[in-house]
Amino acid sequence: MADDHTHVLDFFTPRAAGWDSRFPDDGAAYTTAAGMLGLRPGDAVLDAGCGTGRALPALRAVVGPRGTVLGADITPAMLEEAARAGRGGSGTLLRADVARLPLRDGVLDAVFGAGLISHLARPGADMTELARVVRPGGVLALFHPIGRAALAARHGRTITDDDLRAEPRLRELLAGAGWRLESYTDEDDRFLALAVRQA
Ligand SMILES: C[S@@+](CC[C@H](N)C(=O)[O-])C[C@H]1O[C@@H](n2cnc3c(N)ncnc32)[C@H](O)[C@@H]1O
Repeated sequence: MADDHTHVLDFFTPRAAGWDSRFPDDGAAYTTAAGMLGLRPGDAVLDAGCGTGRALPALRAVVGPRGTVLGADITPAMLEEAARAGRGGSGTLLRADVARLPLRDGVLDAVFGAGLISHLARPGADMTELARVVRPGGVLALFHPIGRAALAARHGRTITDDDLRAEPRLRELLAGAGWRLESYTDEDDRFLALAVRQA
């Protein structure tokens, strides 16, 4: 199974050390997004594909000291950077594949996934696994600090309707995985899709 992630490891391992300094101005966007999950003090949240843990301090701020914050990532180098940056002080860092999370059914109130979905080999199955670990009524936030068009332009591309994050495709993908898409924002300075775990 580890071979399935070769392309992810090959892509992110050499980028881990410079990851945070590449995007120094994103902090406020993560704080705003973390505030939109509807989390309350004491809640439990997973940052799926947490990378260097940029979202963990913002997630800790909303669930407070009694809450639970987990950060899971498949790339060891990203987790090492997270630890080096002290993000382990905001949440528990786990090396885990979002396809097979070491968590019981329904233990979480929310999952936050920033920049994650486009890197998944089996996004439908992975969204189903995220639904498994979230209680009915819990929330999934798929976030990126810039919108689809701005991100495509950064990579010298344009967006197309067959993009997995295009609203109709994402709605269908999530519905098949146990989520109902509740709101969808795709603006230059933010991509945020919020979905609710169906009973
Ligand atoms: C674009 S980076 C975003 C990192 C972080 N969320 C952020 O916003 O800075 C995507 C991350 O997803 C992780 N990832 C990709 N596939 C994964 C999987 N199947 N399970 C866990 N993490 C995964 C990568 O290792 C990488 O750290």
